[in-house]
Amino acid sequence: MSIPVLNIDLKLNLKRINALVNNDLNDFDRLISQRLGSDIRLVNEISQHIIDAKGKRIRPLVSLLASRAVSESPSNHVLTALIIELIHTATLLHDDVVDQSLLRRGKPTANAKFGPKPSVLVGDFLYSRAFQLMNEIENEQMMKIMSNTTNTIAEGEVLQFMSANNPKLSEKDYMQIIYRKTSALFEATTEISGVIQNQAKEICLALKNYGRHLGNAFQIIDDCLDYNSSEAVLGKNIGDDLMEGKTTLPLIIAQQRGTAAENHLISEAILNGDLTNLKSILLIIEATESIEYCIDRASEETNHAITALEALPNTKYKDGLIKLAILALGRSN
Ligand code: IPE
Ligand code: IPE
Ligand code: MG
Ligand code: MG
Repeated sequence: MSIPVLNIDLKLNLKRINALVNNDLNDFDRLISQRLGSDIRLVNEISQHIIDAKGKRIRPLVSLLASRAVSESPSNHVLTALIIELIHTATLLHDDVVDQSLLRRGKPTANAKFGPKPSVLVGDFLYSRAFQLMNEIENEQMMKIMSNTTNTIAEGEVLQFMSANNPKLSEKDYMQIIYRKTSALFEATTEISGVIQNQAKEICLALKNYGRHLGNAFQIIDDCLDYNSSEAVLGKNIGDDLMEGKTTLPLIIAQQRGTAAENHLISEAILNGDLTNLKSILLIIEATESIEYCIDRASEETNHAITALEALPNTKYKDGLIKLAILALGRSN
């Protein structure tokens, strides 16, 4: 028995899907350098540090594909994709302070390089810049969705913080946390793509459902990768979640299925945020087939995401959204 391999290099494999919206992505690159500037040197330095490291840019890709899947001549779609990426990046700046993470996108985190204070402050800058840009679109419904979503993300991160070092968290508690901290932004990303392109309610709802389920799968896999990848591939430190006492799904299932002694070992590690027994915990995760369970759960979410797209016309962009959901399920980074 061995842990299933999450071996898809997402960054590499997204290339073909990225090609579907190549012109939009070039516009996105131009826009990001035009619209991010500030007169304050440190703001530019820190935002460039994290933006230049270039994440997978999965949310802008989803946003652009969704806009093109519902409209032949979309408007404001690139700006919308930029707004989403800025909000995502702001959450990462804050998250790396809270999680005390040192590696992000294969580089030292802003937290490690510049310290927690400037990271939080520039995170605020990116958040508020996103709202400045949103004003340019002048769409009341988008404003409403995004103010609710950013509020939900903040609640999610607080809930995550409050749940730290609690080994008794249930799968249901876990799903509530990941919905708030991660899936809510995916859900808003896709819903807004419909809203901005003036689509009917059913289409916006279908897009929203796709985003939520994709986000759930994305975070479940992210939490598996903390036990099942390498720093070189992931670009983040392995074991960060346990060090922060995060009771993620792989640990919840390993505790449920393990012996009393194994359960005790994991509980203690979560309680103390202690990596000493990481090797034994990895063996328990393997023996209890906990990662297999998580992948099954993530597959269910992916299926729901793909089913939601049935409401959309058949286009190469919709195909792109389907392929992306499947790739994200087997990703190693
Ligand atoms: C990281 O998101 C935060 C999670 C929701 C797991 P990504 O994995 O999309 O991060 P980047 O943007 O590619 O670095
Ligand atoms: C991701 O949280 C969600 C947000 C950043 C809001 P995590 O803490 O699980 O993500 P990583 O592992 O640091 O990317
Ligand atoms: Mg984190
Ligand atoms: Mg994580």
